[in-house]
Amino acid sequence: MKIAFGSDHAGFRLKKTVMEHLAAQGHLCTDCGTDTDDTPASYVPAAVQVADKVNRKEADFGVLVCGTGLGISISANKIDGIRAALCTNEYMARMARQHNDANVLAMGARVVGTGVACAIADAFFGEAFEAGGRHQVRVNELMDLEK
Ligand code: RB5
Repeated sequence: MKIAFGSDHAGFRLKKTVMEHLAAQGHLCTDCGTDTDDTPASYVPAAVQVADKVNRKEADFGVLVCGTGLGISISANKIDGIRAALCTNEYMARMARQHNDANVLAMGARVVGTGVACAIADAFFGEAFEAGGRHQVRVNELMDLEK
């Protein structure tokens, strides 16, 4: 899969760890910034860049990381077409794909450790949306909010 990554300074290191973890599985990973944890950087531009890649179909999915995962997921969810799911455990990650058809995984680097973050990513990318069922109706309903 093609996966676009983004973070602020607080999420930079965890983003790189998860990116390396997924790249080692053969996923094509692109980093949309920020590029350092030395300088404070807003989470908003990274969320916008990743969302644009997903919407232009240059990426199948996005992964966003900030300190809590809150600011960067809220930012992404303000952009039409994006369903960003902030996940703190593997169950949420599985449900985010199965039930919500999330196209962006968000995590908080100050909330989850590297092992849990990689397990969350594996759970997210190991699941598919249950298309055509009752969850499809709900996802259609929530996407209609953009009209
Ligand atoms: C940065 O200190 C922090 O506020 C940010 O990474 C994020 O947690 C905001 O939601």
